[in-house]
Formats: sequence, C-alpha cells, structure tokens
Amino acid sequence: MAELNDTSIKIQQKLDALKKQLTSARDSFLGYPVSKDFDYSVLNEFLKFPINNLGDPFEHGTYRVQTHEMEREVIAFFAKLFRANPKDFWGYVTNGGSESNLYGLYLARELFPKAIVYYSESTHYSVRKNIHLLNIPSIVIKSQPSGEMDYEDFKNTVRMNRHKPVIVLATFGTTMKEAKDDISKIKGILGDMAIQDHYIHCDAALAGTFGPFMQPKLAFDFMDGADSISISGHKFVGSPIPTGVLIAKRSNRDRIAKGISYIGSLDTTITGSRNGHSPLFLWYALKQLGTEGLRDRYLHSLEVAEYCETQLKSIGVDAWRNPNAITVVLPKTPKSIKNKWQLATEGDVAHIICMPNVTKTQIDEFINDMKNCSEPIIEDEFSYDFSLS
Ligand SMILES: Cc1ncc(COP(=O)(O)O)c(C=O)c1O
Repeated sequence: MAELNDTSIKIQQKLDALKKQLTSARDSFLGYPVSKDFDYSVLNEFLKFPINNLGDPFEHGTYRVQTHEMEREVIAFFAKLFRANPKDFWGYVTNGGSESNLYGLYLARELFPKAIVYYSESTHYSVRKNIHLLNIPSIVIKSQPSGEMDYEDFKNTVRMNRHKPVIVLATFGTTMKEAKDDISKIKGILGDMAIQDHYIHCDAALAGTFGPFMQPKLAFDFMDGADSISISGHKFVGSPIPTGVLIAKRSNRDRIAKGISYIGSLDTTITGSRNGHSPLFLWYALKQLGTEGLRDRYLHSLEVAEYCETQLKSIGVDAWRNPNAITVVLPKTPKSIKNKWQLATEGDVAHIICMPNVTKTQIDEFINDMKNCSEPIIEDEFSYDFSLS
C-alpha cells in the first residue's frame, strides 16, 4: 500500500510539473498560429466515452458511439462559409490541415491520374510529403517576395506541359508570410490555355476561417474556382487536440467511395478510426461564436497585427505584413527572444502571428524585450529549414 502511495505521489508530481511547463510554454508564444483562448470544460463529461467517428460522417454506420451529427454540422458551416454549392458539398473532420491537404490531393489524383501537381515554393512542408506518398509527378513554382505564387512562372511552366491534366495546390495564407495565392488568377490562366482537366485544392490552414471577412475579399473559395478547401481547426478556432476540416464536392467524393461491410459505411476517409471528440469541440466553438464571432476574432487579430507592425517599425525593425494578414514578418531576432517567444524562423525572416488571444500588452512586452536586447544574432547549431527547396 505504501509503495502504491509512493507511486501515486510520483505520478502526481510528474503531472504537476508537466502542467507548470505547459502553462509557461503556452503563455509565452507569439510565433505559431494556435489559438489558446478556448474553454471546452462543459464537454469534460464526453472524455468518458470511447467516441470514434469511424466511416463517412454522412452515412449510417454500425458503430454508434460517434458524433457524426455534430461533424456534419461543422462541415455544413464551413461549406457555407466557403460558398460551396449547397447541393454538392461533402467533407469530414480530419486530424489537421496536413491530412486535409492529403485528402484534397488524393481526390484530385483519383479524378486525374495522369496529372502533374503544381505548388509554390512557399507551400507548407507537409505537401511535398503528401505528393510523395501519392506518387504524383509535381513541379515547384517560384514565389514572389511576398510569398504569393509567381503567376508568370506558373503560366510558363504549365504551358510546357499543357498536354497533361493540372492539379494546383494553392495556398491561402502561407506558413511564414501569410501570403494568399489568387484562385481566380490561377483559374483564369488555366482557362486561357484551354486546360479543361484541372483540379484546384486550396490549402487555407490558417486564413480560410477568416478569409470570408477580408475587405476587399480575396479569391479562394468554391465560387472563385476551388474544388476542395482545407483548414486546421486548432489554428484560428482553437482546440486542445490538433484537428482539421476538409470540404470537397460531393460529386467528386462519390466517384471514389467504396462500401465496407465491417463498418457498415463507406470508406471515404483517410483513416478508419477517427477522432470524434474534435468534431464535438469544433461544433461547440462554432455554436458559441457563429459567423459574427469569427468576424470579431479576425477584426481583433487584425488590429493587434497593425499595432505590432507599427510598434516594431517605431523601434527601427523592418516589419511588414501582407494585405489583410494577421502575421507580421520581421528579420530574424536574437536567440533569447526567439526562445522566449517561440518564434518560428525561415531563412532570414521570423514572424509574429497575432492570433485572437494575443493582446497589445503582450506585444508591448515583446517590443520591450527587443528594445532591451543587445545580443547579436547567431546562427543556431541546428537550424530547421521550413522551405521546400
Ligand atoms: C499553410 C499551411 N498548410 C498546412 C499546414 C499543416 O497544418 P496542420 O499542422 O494542421 O497539419 C500548416 C501548418 O502550419 C500551414 O501553415
């Protein structure tokens, strides 16, 4: 018994230490697009259930400890936000933006098995791995200094391969600079070359959730020409578990659906067993926020991002933002600042992402640290390169 108590005390001590470490890490980051202002405590009871959203959320399955109904509501919410045809949309809640992108590419390859994928050099690192997994030929397109796709390079590259179907993996909000590829420009280029066999997947991991509120609105959704759109749920909305959403056209998903008798449903998703708690979190958050709540979150983020850019400039830091962006790009900072604020860097640039929980007070503290730091910028011994080249 004494031994058991010792063990329990040690476990508790470990958990206490972990909580302390997580709290301190959570409260001091500005460099990653993760919201941390959520409260899902009313859903604690649901952690006692072995929820598994096995199978297609739009089909009846045999396993009933699931949250398919909530999942369908989440899909319908985003389908509407992304102006999908109300009679032709489908989707599911994934494990994150990377899986959502994998699904978009998978659908595209099933529809056009002989296609080439085009994506810009600013594309998220996971896309190259997804393309490799799916074994699709691909070509990297140059980016403009802003991070947006270089459309001249895109046009010239596609022209050289115009006998092949085209899959475009466009990004609406690149990882480092939050640059947005313009879906209608991409669609226009394909139209000018009369390339009918094409598929455009829009990776809108961070910016998709607030894209509809941008003024002026930028082209990224179904009405602008996207065939599927992906987002990360733990980014702008916020979730304790990484999650994502994929919205596609139902007519396309129908072409790849296969029935599986073991689950009594269609095997349309990448994984078999699927997290059923994440759809519940997202459903709850969207019910609480609604479209207006999301808009307010975006306007708050935008205001803080403008403030951050101005404050950095006022102390002589060469900071800038893409139009409508909540990401402030700045030159790489000294290591102590990078570590304290957990700033991601790529090449010579770093960024601050003004997620809805970021306040002007935190920005002031960051500016103060920058002002008082005389440390030179030294290269990390191991530096991680997020670029694709
Ligand atoms: C543009 C972009 N796409 C995809 C991803 C991957 O999303 P996740 O981390 O949800 O898998 C990210 C993550 O930062 C991203 O910035």
